[in-house]
Formats: sequence, structure tokens, C-alpha cells
Amino acid sequence: MTDISSETRFLHAIEMGLGAWQWGDRIVWQYGHGYSVEDVKLAFEASLNEGIRFVDTAELYGNGLSERLLGRFLKDTEQPVLIATKFFPWPWRFTKGALPKALRGSLARLGVESVDLYQVHWPSVTLSTDGLMEGMVECVKSGTTRTVGVSNFGQTRMLAAYSALARHNIPLASNQVHYSLLNRTVEKNGTLARCKELGIRLIAYSPIEKGLLSGKYSPSNPPPGSRAGSYITLLPKIQPLIKKMTEIGQDHGGKSNAQVALNWVICKGALPIPGAKNAEQAQQNAGALGWRLTEAEVAKLDEISDQILE
Ligand SMILES: NC(=O)c1ccc[n+]([C@@H]2O[C@H](COP(=O)([O-])OP(=O)(O)OC[C@H]3O[C@@H](n4cnc5c(N)ncnc54)[C@H](OP(=O)(O)O)[C@@H]3O)[C@@H](O)[C@H]2O)c1
Repeated sequence: MTDISSETRFLHAIEMGLGAWQWGDRIVWQYGHGYSVEDVKLAFEASLNEGIRFVDTAELYGNGLSERLLGRFLKDTEQPVLIATKFFPWPWRFTKGALPKALRGSLARLGVESVDLYQVHWPSVTLSTDGLMEGMVECVKSGTTRTVGVSNFGQTRMLAAYSALARHNIPLASNQVHYSLLNRTVEKNGTLARCKELGIRLIAYSPIEKGLLSGKYSPSNPPPGSRAGSYITLLPKIQPLIKKMTEIGQDHGGKSNAQVALNWVICKGALPIPGAKNAEQAQQNAGALGWRLTEAEVAKLDEISDQILE
């Protein structure tokens, strides 16, 4: 691995974060049905109590509500919290000035003067990677973000972002991508290895595969809402993996499947940011820390996941 720059070192020291897409989103997560603002506040507090201090949100989540809720919760805690949010590349945002402008909106909702990580949520169809990074450079120079990240960037775009920022002596801090035992694209296509080589932190989203890896869903008990449709073909295949995860969890003193799923991501050298709807989930997910799967266990899980994904 290359030397990690001093600006981004803090990200490499974080083992796990907390995802806040669930806070306010009604499209995928049915916020307001089965869980409420009180529940997500307790999830936030439980995470802090367990030592999780890195929260990932986005202007898109709940149409700004996730950022507003996080802002409210931050006012009620004395604990230092590291904040990551994201710029959404709507097609009508076609100038670099759109980034500092959108970040000002995020800061107002969050009630803070700067964030620790500002990420481009997806590649843009109307603004080149160079243009996006020029906007990010303005954000860094104005002191409104400490570091810059991308999300859902393939290797070519990620390297273009890395080079564009390097021209301004700014490191690319992170690439936030889908990574779990049920989605290993970034491991197979070399993105994870390239991130390690360049000192870019790979932030793993959907590390519990939106609840599937907890083992609580099955073909006869599918997840609610749009998740049912997107996982219709995967669900019947995952039982051997869930069974092995449960066995391995037992060998580690009764760790849950979700904890095994998160520990696997950590063992791979990535930073998982599980989403939590309530304190119970947040607390359980924090129990992925403080122990490690063995190399043989990781290899066994890899083998079974390969059979499912082939
Ligand atoms: N950059 C991007 O494009 C992008 C995309 C997706 C996500 N993200 C970020 O990544 C974060 C995490 O990803 P994600 O929310 O998609 O998926 P995830 O973390 O894999 O799954 C979260 C969901 O799993 C269930 N769950 C969580 N902990 C559990 C536990 N201990 N036991 C049982 N069920 C549990 C909950 O849903 P139920 O209780 O309803 O099952 C929860 O909403 C998001 O919050 C967001 O910050 C980013």
C-alpha cells in the first residue's frame, strides 16, 4: 500500500460507520411504517455509545430529511461525530459550481460549518469527472469539506478522479461502493486492490445486503417493499451461506449473521457502513467489532458465496 496522506488518515483508522439512508427514506425503507424518528435517534445514540462515530448520509436520502435528522441528533450530543455526505449529480447540475452550492445546502440541513467527507454519489451524465473534481477542489479550498470521495465509480473513473485531484495536491479519500458477501464485484474486478494500492478507503455500502445476510428473510418470508422484487432470484440460493455464517458465529461465542457479514467486510480491508432502523440493529451491528474471523473462515465464506454468485 502507498503512504496514506495525513488528510485522509482518519478514514483508514475507522473500522465501521453507520449508514443513514434509512432515516427519512420511504421509497426503499418505508420510514414512518414500523419505525420512526425516535427509533432512528436511538439507533444513532446506540452507535455512539458503542464507539461508532462515522455517519454516512446524502442530500438525496429522504429528500434532505436524513441530513436534517442527523443535524438534530448532533445538537443533542457532546460526542465528536465524523460526517460524510454526498452530492447528487442531477443532469441539470452541469457546472462545477453546483458542488459548492449543493454542499452549502447540506451544511445548512446538518447545522454544521463543514463535513469530514464530501462524496460524489454517482458519476454524472452532464459533468465530466474533471469538472466534478474541480467543484470538489473549491469545496476543500473553502474549508467546507475536509476530504473528497466518490461513490459508485468504476476503476477508470476512480483513477481519473484521483489524478484530477492530485493536480491540486488533494488526495482522493474514498470510493463508496456496493460490497458484501452477496456482491463481490469490487473484489473480483480489482477495484478493492487498486484502492489499497493508492491509499483510497473503500467504503462498503449494503454490507448486510439490505438485511438478507442477517438470515431473517427467505423465499417464504421476503423483505418488504421494493427489496422483494430485487432479491427474488437471490433469496432461494442463499440458505447454505446463511447456515455457514450461523455456524461460524456460534464458534465465536454466538455472533449473529449480521455481525459475521460485517466482520467479513472488515477482514477484506473495507469500511462497512451498515444502515440501522433502531437501537437493537445498531447495537447488534456494533458487535461486529472487537474480534476477527480466521483466514480459514473467510476462505470458506468466499467459497460458498462464489457458488451462489457464479
Ligand atoms: N452510495 C450509494 O449509492 C449507497 C447505496 C446504498 C447504501 N448506501 C449507504 O450504505 C448504508 C448501508 O447500506 P444499506 O442500508 O443499503 O444496506 P445494509 O446496511 O446492508 O442493510 C440495512 C438494513 O438491514 C436491516 N438490518 C440492519 N441491521 C440488522 C441487524 N443487525 N439484523 C437484522 N437486520 C438488520 C435493516 O432493514 P430491515 O429491518 O427492514 O430488514 C436495515 O435497514 C446506507 O444507509 C447508506 O448510508 C450508499
